[in-house]
Amino acid sequence: MNNQTNTYFGFSVMIVVAVVALNIAISTLMCGVLSTATAADISAEATNARIAPVSMLNTGGAIAAPAPVVAAASTATRSGEEIYSSTCMACHATGAAGAPKVGDSAAWAPRIATGLDALVASATKGKGAMPPKGTCAVCSADELRSTIEYMTSKSQ
Ligand code: HEC
Repeated sequence: MNNQTNTYFGFSVMIVVAVVALNIAISTLMCGVLSTATAADISAEATNARIAPVSMLNTGGAIAAPAPVVAAASTATRSGEEIYSSTCMACHATGAAGAPKVGDSAAWAPRIATGLDALVASATKGKGAMPPKGTCAVCSADELRSTIEYMTSKSQ
C-alpha cells in the first residue's frame, strides 16, 4: 500500500461514516416527527373530534344491542314440571305402554330405590317401551334430571 492508496482509503472510510451518520440522524428525526403525529391522531380528543359529527346525529340514546332471542329460548332451562306436562305426561299420567304412573308409589318405589342417578341414566338411554330421553330429544341432562326429580317427588 503506498501513501496515495492510503489516502483514498481513509477518504472513502470517512465518506461511509458520514453517510451512515447522516442516515441515523435523518431517520431519528423522521421517527420523532412520525411518532408524534401518530400519537396525536389516536388520542381520545382527536378521535372524539373526528367522530363528533356522527355521534351527534344519534340523539336517541344508546343503540341497544338486539336481544339474542333464539339463543335465550334454546338455552333457557325449563322446569321439571313444564317438561313433564309437555312430554312425559303422555305416558306417565296414563300408564300408557306400561309406564309407571306418576302418583303410583307402588310402581315407583322399586325404581326410586335404584337412586336418582340410575333413573336419569336409564331414562336418558331409554328403557323398555320408553324411547331415549323419554322422547324429549331437546332436553339437557339437567332438565331430564329435574323432570325425574319432579316425577319421583309426586310418586312417593
Ligand atoms: C312413549 C311413552 C313414554 C314417554 C313419552 C316417557 N316415558 Fe318414561 N317410561 C315409559 C315406560 C314404558 C317406562 C317403563 C320402562 C320399563 O321399566 O321397561 C318408563 C320409565 C321411566 C322411568 C323409570 C326408569 C327406570 O329405570 O325404572 C323414568 C325415570 C322415566 N320413565 C322418565 C321419563 C321422563 C323424564 C320422560 C319425559 C322426558 C318420560 N319418561 C317420557 C314410557 C314413557
